[in-house]
Amino acid sequence: MKIASVVGVRPQFVKASVVSRELRKTNEECLIHTGQHYDYEMNKVFFEELGIPEPNYYLGVGSGSHGQQTGEMLRKLEEVLLIEKPDLVLTYGDTNSTLAGALAASKLGIKNAHVESGLRSFDRSMPEEINRILTDHCSNILFCPTQNAVDNLGEEGITENVYLTGDVMVDSLLLNKEIAEAKSSILKDLNLKNRDYLVATIHRASNTDNIENLQNIIEAFQELDENIIFPVHPRTEKLLKTYGLYESLNSSVTLTKPLGFLDFIKLMNHAKMILPDSGGVQKEAYILKVPCVTLRENTEWIETIRDGWNVLVGSNKNKIIEAVNEFMPSAQEHRNIFGDGSASNRIAATINALFGNKSASNRIATTINAL
Ligand code: UD1
Repeated sequence: MKIASVVGVRPQFVKASVVSRELRKTNEECLIHTGQHYDYEMNKVFFEELGIPEPNYYLGVGSGSHGQQTGEMLRKLEEVLLIEKPDLVLTYGDTNSTLAGALAASKLGIKNAHVESGLRSFDRSMPEEINRILTDHCSNILFCPTQNAVDNLGEEGITENVYLTGDVMVDSLLLNKEIAEAKSSILKDLNLKNRDYLVATIHRASNTDNIENLQNIIEAFQELDENIIFPVHPRTEKLLKTYGLYESLNSSVTLTKPLGFLDFIKLMNHAKMILPDSGGVQKEAYILKVPCVTLRENTEWIETIRDGWNVLVGSNKNKIIEAVNEFMPSAQEHRNIFGDGSASNRIAATINALFGNKSASNRIATTINAL
């Protein structure tokens, strides 16, 4: 069968790298890159490091307002899908590329499947929350990373063709952790010692588009007596410069360009603590057993909070400082909540089974719906 996979941003390249590998064993894959991320550090380096095949289509949509970006993707994806006529369209995560892929497929009556389905922050002011809900509601097959995600879909009345597969980012992290340890020289390059520094990521609209919130976070970073490494997303860099905050931050924190996947894994793996506003990084911190202080008011990954490895502080300066100085994972409880590294195998096997690709589904020994 022919599967069209739609990707467009950094974390989608990471997720697709492991799923594509499994799918391509028994299927034809057409990889469509919307072009939402286009800088070398946000895009090409991931294809190089993760060995992802060249996309069959690069739509070059680039940046823009949400409506313009999503609309342009929808228009161009429809053209490609009409040419390729895939049996299935596969989308990942919660970005504008995800929503455009799911919408384009469902409007053409092509079956579509969503990887990382069922996540909810219950904060509809986040563009990602709207993307998640709409994508789930127009997808035919829903691959959930956790039981909590399955339950969230149930609450919204979605119970058919829902599969608990585990999280594909676990697959990718397990696959690349040792490679990163061997290949990345990031600790040496930045002169860092094991557990002697913090890593921050900031790119959420709620933090970057509100000068007061961004200023609070930066003041907290400046008042903390810690070595903070902060790889800066291009949108954050632009806004820091616009607000006139870049120079003062640069003198108190180590700012770097966005890092490739291998450097970033190694950086996280040896950090004393991670301060993200990214969703995926909270999960990676949990898997790597690094304490996490999240610069958001809510999270889709509530398991990391429940198990005591993550705490939410939003953009409140005092809360950030207090948490960095005092937060310790409570019970040291650590479970395989995000799966065992075979989520991509389960996804491929499920697709093969559902589409009657019997020889393929028999070959891949897997227990669907039972982590
Ligand atoms: C997007 C996703 C977000 C995801 C993140 C992963 C949406 C709504 N948001 O956020 O959920 O967590 O990707 O990183 O889909 N820019 C560049 N070069 C690039 C990419 C972006 O300069 O290669 C700048 C542009 O100024 C652009 C801005 O960053 O306007 C925002 O980029 P965009 O892709 O719209 O959203 P992200 O913030 O990256």
